[in-house]
Amino acid sequence: GERTATAEPLPIPELLEDTNPHPDQATFDIVSQNGSKTFVNDVETETMGYNGDYLGPVIRVRRGEEVTINVENQLEDELTTIHWHGLEVDGEADGGPHSGILSGETWSPTFTVDQPAATLWYHPHPEKNTGRQVYKGLAGLLFVEDEVSDQLAIPKTYGENDIPLIVQDKQFNADGRFNYHLAMPDIMTGLQGDTMLVNGSIDPYLEVNQEMIRLRILNGSNASIFELAFDSGITFHQIASDGGFLTEPVEMDQLRLGPSERAEILVDFSQVTKGEVVQLMNRNQSFMTFNVEGQAETAFTVPDSLTTIEPIEPSEAVRTRQFVFQGMGPSVNINGKQFDIDRIDETISLGDTEIWEVSNDSGMGMMGGTVHPFHAHGVQFQILDRDGRAPAPNERGWKDTFIVEPGETVRVIATFNSPGVFMYHCHILEHEDAGMMGQFEVK
Ligand code: C2O
Ligand code: CU
Repeated sequence: GERTATAEPLPIPELLEDTNPHPDQATFDIVSQNGSKTFVNDVETETMGYNGDYLGPVIRVRRGEEVTINVENQLEDELTTIHWHGLEVDGEADGGPHSGILSGETWSPTFTVDQPAATLWYHPHPEKNTGRQVYKGLAGLLFVEDEVSDQLAIPKTYGENDIPLIVQDKQFNADGRFNYHLAMPDIMTGLQGDTMLVNGSIDPYLEVNQEMIRLRILNGSNASIFELAFDSGITFHQIASDGGFLTEPVEMDQLRLGPSERAEILVDFSQVTKGEVVQLMNRNQSFMTFNVEGQAETAFTVPDSLTTIEPIEPSEAVRTRQFVFQGMGPSVNINGKQFDIDRIDETISLGDTEIWEVSNDSGMGMMGGTVHPFHAHGVQFQILDRDGRAPAPNERGWKDTFIVEPGETVRVIATFNSPGVFMYHCHILEHEDAGMMGQFEVK
């Protein structure tokens, strides 16, 4: 039958309370739990969420802070883990597939935050079951703040002019229930949906003043690449990539975001007439609507510069490693190998700088090829070049996930300062679950 969804105000995830009174320490409590939620047709579907039915609260930490997060697994009869995507912490605190939390148990990693202000995120990472758990709703944002973000004259009032947007696509059955299934096409491309959600709501609206708004956008989909733009054609400025602020804002009219990539953008709604609506689109589909209300008291302008990023020189690299995405469907792999939790694929000396050359050899030919987003844990990269060409201005910042087109080679550089065992993988979750993942150890 016809799907019905009633537009509702954009849900804003709560900011999770830090229960530690010490100024240099923070303690947070997170519960992974089963839930239910109505998305379409007034039908409740089974979901999973952190501290709620779907998605999770925003965890906000500061650079220099010692953070403990107690993660309780209340999922019925189901193992989970929680991975801090983009956070530079030791392997033991990273939350990959080795850090399984049995149903009823609590895992309490402690780490010190030592990286620039950024919009990161957290999600489960159990072996072969990440796609399903994320799809059901396990995901949340993790903000890092520091002196640079304190001092920048940009919108930072959470929920008012600093707005988190977790954009996702889902498939629903005709009855309105989630449809997580893995038919062959879904393993080929990853599970893509026809219904767009923002913060768990279908085509919600947000009332904004005629002023500058900061949007912190996470592509929280399992497998889809979004081409984000405003229907009115208004331009915006990207100010941050995955791992933090760019050196300067980049004016754009379209933003391409692969699974797990983040972008912070400034949108100036003072250029929009009062009473008008502006839609955030993915190609020809609406993600959400901004209802533009009257004048604001605050008038932000786009800063000329944001932060400094010391380029890591290729001459500092002690070695170059190759990673090749290969195979299709159930045979997807990296360098000919599928994931084995007992095998370390690459060993790196702590503190070394390396160049990683990531190529995409998969799905060439008839199928037109599959894009694979590459991600590695515990480190932030700088992109050196794409097929020898300099990266686009909005990719000249810290990146922990980057798209690799069919036939393309992306060269990145990083310094490995966190010890332990970490994952690298395709962030199409159905590819990751099928084995397109490997492990590196830094020691
Ligand atoms: Cu977003 Cu291995 O994770
Ligand atoms: Cu992939």
